[in-house]
Amino acid sequence: MSRRTLIAGNWKMYKTPFESREMVQELVALIGKDPEVEVLVCPPFTGLEAVEEVVSGTPVQLGAQNVHWENQGAFTGEISAGMLLECGCRYVIIGHSERRQYFEESDETINRKLRQVVDTQLVPILCVGESLEQREAGKVQEVIVGQLEQGLAGLSEAQISSLVLAYEPVWAIGTGRTATPEIAEQVHASIRDWLANHYSGELSDRLRILYGGSVKPENTAELMAQENLDGALVGGASLEAQSFARIVSEASSNDA
Ligand code: 13P
Repeated sequence: MSRRTLIAGNWKMYKTPFESREMVQELVALIGKDPEVEVLVCPPFTGLEAVEEVVSGTPVQLGAQNVHWENQGAFTGEISAGMLLECGCRYVIIGHSERRQYFEESDETINRKLRQVVDTQLVPILCVGESLEQREAGKVQEVIVGQLEQGLAGLSEAQISSLVLAYEPVWAIGTGRTATPEIAEQVHASIRDWLANHYSGELSDRLRILYGGSVKPENTAELMAQENLDGALVGGASLEAQSFARIVSEASSNDA
């Protein structure tokens, strides 16, 4: 089955609305009208409107980095799926390791967020990944399966089929230490096996699994050449239009 490659930029807490607009103006020009892969940028909440004004009607899509599990209510400082949709978002990242690590997000809250989002038009990108300590203790499989089992609990196969997964080994994020294509492929293939065993071969074939962790223009082609890598979730190298556009172009030559 062919899974369309998705190249997503997670800007984290970088760029003011002004800087966001400038960046996407350059990006839209570099990407052109008809990229071979799907392109997504996820600015901070405050940049969504400015970015939407520029990317609307272009192939560059808009996403957010987090969402709350209720659609409205007394939750000071939080943002709902409905609000993101009205800002033009098509995707939302859920369960990024930085949210798990610094904001105490648990598999349970991640599950609540997914349950809220799967029935809307927003496509969740569920992040999973092990720490260095867990990898060295030989617990990669256990950690990833635990995050998937708890994150996806109670969701139907139809609901799961609407989401995107991202494998982001924590030790490869922002460290310059990319997982080798073989290591990434091994984990992606094991996620696909788990999906086939727990749900169905059809779902497993269909779900896109992105890789994230020190992806840059220089390593994109070899990562994307792996059978079970269907795109990238890019942090640092997505902040600059030139380097993000190069990643898109490297992934495109591979997708052809
Ligand atoms: P870096 O590409 O900066 O390693 O970040 C990866 C990431 O966390 C994307 O969500």
